[in-house]
Amino acid sequence: MTPVKLAGYEFFNKTLKSPKTILAPMVDQSELAYRILCRKYGADVCVTPMFHARLFSEGQKYRDDQFTTNKEDRPLIVQFCANDPDILLKAARFVENDCDAVDLNLGCPQNIAKRGRYGSFLQDEWELIEKMVSTLHRELAIPVTVKIRCFPTVEKTIEYAKMIEAAGAQMLTVHGRLREQRGHHTGLADWDKIKAVKQALKIPVVANGNILYHEDIQRCIEYTGVDAVMTAEGSLYNPAIFSSGRTLPPFTYQVAEEYLDICKQEKTNPGMIKGHMFKLLHPSLPVHTDLRARLGRARELDEFYSIVRELKERVTKEIEEKGESPDEQGQPDENGIRKYAYWRCQPYIRPALPKKDEPKNDKKRNLSEASSEQPVANNKKLKEDTEVCASC
Ligand SMILES: Cc1cc2nc3c(=O)[nH]c(=O)nc-3n(C[C@H](O)[C@H](O)[C@H](O)COP(=O)(O)O)c2cc1C
Repeated sequence: MTPVKLAGYEFFNKTLKSPKTILAPMVDQSELAYRILCRKYGADVCVTPMFHARLFSEGQKYRDDQFTTNKEDRPLIVQFCANDPDILLKAARFVENDCDAVDLNLGCPQNIAKRGRYGSFLQDEWELIEKMVSTLHRELAIPVTVKIRCFPTVEKTIEYAKMIEAAGAQMLTVHGRLREQRGHHTGLADWDKIKAVKQALKIPVVANGNILYHEDIQRCIEYTGVDAVMTAEGSLYNPAIFSSGRTLPPFTYQVAEEYLDICKQEKTNPGMIKGHMFKLLHPSLPVHTDLRARLGRARELDEFYSIVRELKERVTKEIEEKGESPDEQGQPDENGIRKYAYWRCQPYIRPALPKKDEPKNDKKRNLSEASSEQPVANNKKLKEDTEVCASC
């Protein structure tokens, strides 16, 4: 007997098990090993990196290189970018027995997406989007979900979300930024637009954007009324962002070692491992610059281990000698940025871009858009990331 395909809240509650937290799709960073780590720290659902539907549908090697999973890797959503309903369906068929839903990426704002005509550059091609979503909804054995960015007006954003819902999406993630908000212009995600979409739809809605600390998850749910919260960058710097009841974030070297232990079991591309090492160890590297240099050169698992163990030894000695300062226990400053010792995982706060008439070396943080509703998240204003898809 063919299993019944669940819809909307039945899918959300029974298949996804009423999640509150979702690890975001991240190219080269939400791979199996990192998903295992984030699940261990409390991520309820994980999304794979975005796969290119045409390459996925055509090449065994691309599929094998890009997509690995195991029995424990559930609930799992596999994400694709696409601009052709048949190709998308063909790609989705390869994964429909190994995941709980297929997600369509309509959020990527990068130039590569512009050239490839996918992600947020389809935002104006509603007929095509309708066809891709409805094809998967009709033909696939598992539900289709969609991840979008917002339009400048709340009305158009709602109309867009409703069109996607009517096409057959069973869950919608709203990244509360516009297509133009990327690189130096990333700025804040707009929780008010997310809230409006949540109120307008019948299917579960997931919020994405402005999550730096664990407390932001509940704050976002309360503010927007969404069913769950998805986080990307915050989880790369601290996978314990998913954990409740912690007083302090984990040690950087401890999480890095846990991740390497997983990579020993689940073969992982060294480039991805290095990307994770730099982020997990981020606050510790400016203090131990020789380790940062070694990390830059490292290629093998053994080398990564050796760096992490050296850091552990140095920090353990320092804590034995000096202890952990009472001033570094997570006290928020006036902008909501919490202070922790350099050996604890914490979000990366980027230095402000100088204002037009300010000298370039001004280290002052640009927190000019502070708002009482979203205080902690305001350092997103500082974002000037240039990584691939860093602001999809
Ligand atoms: C390294 C990196 C890779 C990303 N890759 C993807 C992707 O493959 N698909 C996607 O929809 N979004 C991708 N994104 C965007 C995130 O999923 C998320 O929408 C965005 O970072 C905002 O969430 P955040 O504020 O929690 O970081 C990526 C983000 C980062 C940092």
